[in-house]
Amino acid sequence: MKTLLVKYAPREERSNSKKLLDTFRSRIENSEIEVLDLCIDVPDMFNVQSMYAYIHRNYLKEELSSEQKKTLTKMDRMTEQLKSADIVVLSYPMHNFSMPASVKAWFDSVMLKGQTWDNADGKYAGLLHGKKALIIVSSGGFYTKEPMIHWEHAISLSKIEFQFMGFSDIRAILAEGMNAGGEIQSENIKKSIAEIEKIIQDWYH
Ligand SMILES: Cc1cc2nc3c(=O)[nH]c(=O)nc-3n(C[C@H](O)[C@H](O)[C@H](O)COP(=O)(O)O)c2cc1C
Repeated sequence: MKTLLVKYAPREERSNSKKLLDTFRSRIENSEIEVLDLCIDVPDMFNVQSMYAYIHRNYLKEELSSEQKKTLTKMDRMTEQLKSADIVVLSYPMHNFSMPASVKAWFDSVMLKGQTWDNADGKYAGLLHGKKALIIVSSGGFYTKEPMIHWEHAISLSKIEFQFMGFSDIRAILAEGMNAGGEIQSENIKKSIAEIEKIIQDWYH
C-alpha cells in the first residue's frame, strides 16, 4: 500500500495543518509513504504552450514534438505520482475561503483527461477507482454553522475534485477556529486528531 502526502504549509513548523499531517504520518503503519511538498515542488500552471500541448495530445490524440512534450513534464510527473498511490492525504490552510493557488494548481496538474478522468458518450467518468483521499484544512474562522457554512469553498471544492477523478472514499477534516486561540483552538485540534485516529483505524487496520 502506498500513501501520498501532499502538503502546502508556508508557515512551516507553526502550521496547524502541517501538525495534523505530521500526526497522521506518525500514526500509520504498513504503508510506503511519499511526500509532495507544494512549497518546494511548485506545480506548473497552464500557459499558452502547455495548454496547446495538452489539448492536442489529450483531446485530439496528436503526436507532440519533444519541445511540446516538455511543457507537460511536471504535470505528467505529478499525475503519475498520484496514480501510483492508494491513499492521498492533502493538507493546507484555507486562504480566502478556498484552497491556496498552489493547491489548485496541483489539482489542475493532475486532472488530465485520459489520465485521471475521461468522457465517453457525453458522460464524464473518473478513472481512479478504489483510491481513498483525506483532506485536512485549517482555517482561522468557523464554517460548520450558518451563515458561514456557505463561505467554505476549500473542503467542498477539494471533495468535488477527488470525486470527479473517481476516488471511492473521500474524508475531510476542517480544523476550524485556528485564529481563536486558547481553549477553542486546542479543543478543535484535539477533535481533529480524534478524527484522524478514526480514519487511520478504518483505512490501515
Ligand atoms: C493569505 C491568508 C488568507 C487567509 N484566508 C482565510 C480565510 O478566508 N478564512 C479563514 O477562516 N482563515 C483564513 N486565513 C487564516 C488561516 O486559514 C489560518 O490561520 C490557518 O490556521 C492557517 O493554517 P496553517 O496553520 O496550517 O498555516 C488566511 C490566512 C492567510 C495567511
